[in-house]
Amino acid sequence: MNQDEMEEIYGNKPPEKIPWNIATPADALVELIESEKVKPCKTIEFGCGLGNYAFYLAGQGFDVTGVDISPSAVAKAKGNALKQGVASRFLAADVLGDLEVVQETFDFAYDWEMLHHIFPENRKKYVENVHRILNPKGKYLSVCFSEKDPQFGGSGKYRETQLGTVLYFSSEDELKELFDSYFKIDELKTIEISGKTAPHLAIYAFMEKK
Ligand SMILES: C[S@@+](CC[C@H](N)C(=O)[O-])C[C@H]1O[C@@H](n2cnc3c(N)ncnc32)[C@H](O)[C@@H]1O
Repeated sequence: MNQDEMEEIYGNKPPEKIPWNIATPADALVELIESEKVKPCKTIEFGCGLGNYAFYLAGQGFDVTGVDISPSAVAKAKGNALKQGVASRFLAADVLGDLEVVQETFDFAYDWEMLHHIFPENRKKYVENVHRILNPKGKYLSVCFSEKDPQFGGSGKYRETQLGTVLYFSSEDELKELFDSYFKIDELKTIEISGKTAPHLAIYAFMEKK
C-alpha cells in the first residue's frame, strides 16, 4: 500500500512537484555534521527519496547507502548520483522487511521525514532493523513530524496530506518510549524544519546504539 502510493508519486511527479524534495540539506542535519557529533563514516539513510541528503553527506566524505521503498525513487536517485559523479549506493527495500539487500553494517543511520510514514504498530520492527544494522556504538538520527505540527488539518495523530497519503504525527514521549530500549538518547527535541509550502514542527532524536 505504502509502496504503491510512493511509486505513484515518484513515478509520475517531476521532482519539483514532490513536496518534500528539497535539494538544500536541512539546517539540523548540517549542524549535526558541522558540529562533528557524527564524523565521516559508513552511513545508511532509510527513506532516502531522490537522494538529496545522501549526496550532501557524500560531499562531506561519508560513504552513503540510501534505501527507499519506491523503486522509481531509487532509480532516479541512482541517475542523479551518476550525473553528479557521486559514489553513493541506492537500494529498493521496505524498512519493515528483512532488509536482505543491505548486506553490510553501518556506523551512522538516519531517517529524515520517513518515520511518520510508519504507523505505531510497525515501529518496533523498524527500530529493531535499525539497531541490527548498526555497528556497536553506532549513531542514529530520526526526524519525523510532531503532533504539534499545524499542517494537514492541525491536531490529529493520523492526517491525510494533499497527496492522499496518511501520516502519523508523534509526541516526544512516544518516541522516547520507542527508542529507549535500543538506544541511548543524546538529544530529543522539537524543531522547525523547512517545507516547500510551509515549515513543519518535527521531533529530532539523536541516539547511540545500546
Ligand atoms: C517524506 S519522504 C522523505 C524523503 C527524503 N528523506 C527527503 O527528505 O527528501 C519519505 C520517504 O520514505 C519512503 N518510505 C516510506 N515508507 C517506507 C518504507 N516502509 N520503507 C522504505 N522507505 C519508505 C518514501 O518512499 C519516501 O521517499
